[in-house]
Parts: sequence; C-alpha cells; structure tokens
Amino acid sequence: MCEYCGCQSLASIDELTREHDEVVRLISHLRPAHRSGDIARMAELARRITTVLVPHTRVEEHGLFPAMAADFPDQIAALEAEHRQVESVLAEAADGVTPADPAWPDRLLESMAMLRDHILKEQDGVFPAALATLGTEEWEAVDKVRAEAGTALPRPAS
Ligand SMILES: [Fe+2]
Repeated sequence: MCEYCGCQSLASIDELTREHDEVVRLISHLRPAHRSGDIARMAELARRITTVLVPHTRVEEHGLFPAMAADFPDQIAALEAEHRQVESVLAEAADGVTPADPAWPDRLLESMAMLRDHILKEQDGVFPAALATLGTEEWEAVDKVRAEAGTALPRPAS
C-alpha cells in the first residue's frame, strides 16, 4: 500500500464501514426475533454484534478518534459516551446468557436504534472529516491499532 495517494486512508475507512454494514445487518434481525418473543435469539444477535464491535471500537477510540479529538472534542466525547451505553446493554447478554430482565429486549432495541444513528453520524461526519484532515502518520497509527485489534469480518477478496 502506498502512502501518499490516499489508498491507505481509504482502506482503513472501508474496513470500518464494512463493520458498520455488518452491525446494521445484524440489528435488522432483532425486530423479527422480538416479535416472535425469541429472547434467546436476540441475545445471540447481541453477542454477534459485540464480536464485530470490539475490534471496531478499539480502532475508532485508539486510532481514529485521538487524531480527531483536538478539532472536534465535544463530538468525539459524545460518540465515546454512546459506545459505552451500547456496550453496557450488549454486555448483559455476554457469556451465552439470555438476560432475565423483562425490560432488556426493549432496552436493547432502543440502544440499537441509537447505534444506527451513531453509525450515520460517524459515516457522514467523522469519516469524511478524517479523510479530509488526517495525515500519513495518523493513518499509520490507525493501521497499527487495526493490526493489533484484528477484525471479526472475513478479509475482502483482493
Ligand atoms: Fe463506528
């Protein structure tokens, strides 16, 4: 990958975007499960969403966001607070647990609706701003975090 033509930055953003797409796809299965009262299925979907989000959030918060925080401190702080809220609702289904709290399915749906808006804010705001403003060193830092974090997605065919 070359350093100056932008392909490095585009590849980083493309991977984050494909993770968003997978999360949105998984979220779309929650309502049918909820309608049929299948809380175990909702919990399984929550765990699959977490699997995609763990490396994704690490790349955002340790690679991309630090490079943006000087220019957009309030927006980045708000996005990180939303990550914590999403994680806490998803974590209730960790370790194969189907949450017993009768309010959990509705809380999960609310959080996932918020997560979809959050994803749009990243894709329409943070990602274009990053592509416009970050330099080679900053993209290398993003790539370094990605190399450590891995991804839950299959690698694209090259
Ligand atoms: Fe994201």
